[in-house]
Amino acid sequence: MSTKLTGPEIFIGKQGNGMISFGSGQPDLPPPKEALENLNIRSDLRYGLIQGEEKLRRALSKEYPASTADNFVITNGASEALDLIFRSMDNGKVLLGKPYYYSYPKILRYANMKPEYTQLEKGKIDFSDFETKVHDCKAVLINSPSNPTGRIESIKTLKEIEKITRDLGIYVVSDEVYKDLIYERENYMIKGEHVITVNSFSKTYAMCGLRIGYLWSNDQRIVDKAIEMKTHTSMNTSLVGQDIALNAMKAPRNYIEKQLKIWRERREMMYTGLSAMGLELWKPEGAFYVFPKIKNPEKFVWDMYTKHKIITYLGEWFGAPEHVRFSYALSMNDIEEGLKRIEKYVDQS
Ligand SMILES: Cc1ncc(COP(=O)(O)O)c(C=O)c1O
Repeated sequence: MSTKLTGPEIFIGKQGNGMISFGSGQPDLPPPKEALENLNIRSDLRYGLIQGEEKLRRALSKEYPASTADNFVITNGASEALDLIFRSMDNGKVLLGKPYYYSYPKILRYANMKPEYTQLEKGKIDFSDFETKVHDCKAVLINSPSNPTGRIESIKTLKEIEKITRDLGIYVVSDEVYKDLIYERENYMIKGEHVITVNSFSKTYAMCGLRIGYLWSNDQRIVDKAIEMKTHTSMNTSLVGQDIALNAMKAPRNYIEKQLKIWRERREMMYTGLSAMGLELWKPEGAFYVFPKIKNPEKFVWDMYTKHKIITYLGEWFGAPEHVRFSYALSMNDIEEGLKRIEKYVDQS
């Protein structure tokens, strides 16, 4: 174990021994039972189509308006989709909100793209700042509902982004991994000729470890380029994983509604609990994160971990050094116990 808070890797996968983790952003809830029901593991395990199994792409195309199976590439999670997309772009600047999901700046750097940040106001895009910075960018990266802020952009802002990027002819990469975990309204998905939508089975279907994600775009150049790069890097995505993902899609719509009810209860408990400690925070509107300001965050995260067996993530990893991120992807009992330990610490410091 590192004795430094270098990054989330020091906490990912840590559990047991009385540890309560508000760290990892993975649902603790089970996947839909349909995912593993009647699963006959295939015996034909030769290479598959690089673009992904046609059956899965066809099923996905029914969920996205005006799309066909040809518009999808099945990837190793949303993560590989993001990596392929930005490596398809040949240099340039990408505008994104700060605080951001911690992998974004790294993915951009590996792709030789340069991040340009717009500071979020209370976790949301300030369109006037966005507008001044977008003109010389090649792409914008939108994540609503957001990790780490738990906030959603207004439909007005999303439509303004749609319009300005269309007028400028630049790409929108819309990371929709939390699109089904939204509490305040229906999700609004950005659309357009140069929009690339990213999603996965990690969050909605609680199958992070399955590593099945995808990109969807009507921009054929991006789809073709992603397939070409995947041919020479990871090749096809796991065939068995794709079979499980396709099975999961048979789950009735109320699977998502039932999950949302649980997330909403947890959100209330976290928001009320942390607010009662006098912490400054935004009410989450989607995903499963709260992002309060905390005095001396490094000491907080380290002490909570080493002395009180509580994992939290340092805001600095998300570009917000005054904050600490709490994921509430854990049971109500653990949340209750975790909040008690945090309250005791906050009261004493
Ligand atoms: C905003 C965001 N995008 C992408 C990912 C990666 O998702 P996947 O597990 O599908 O690679 C995450 C995971 O936490 C995320 O929060």
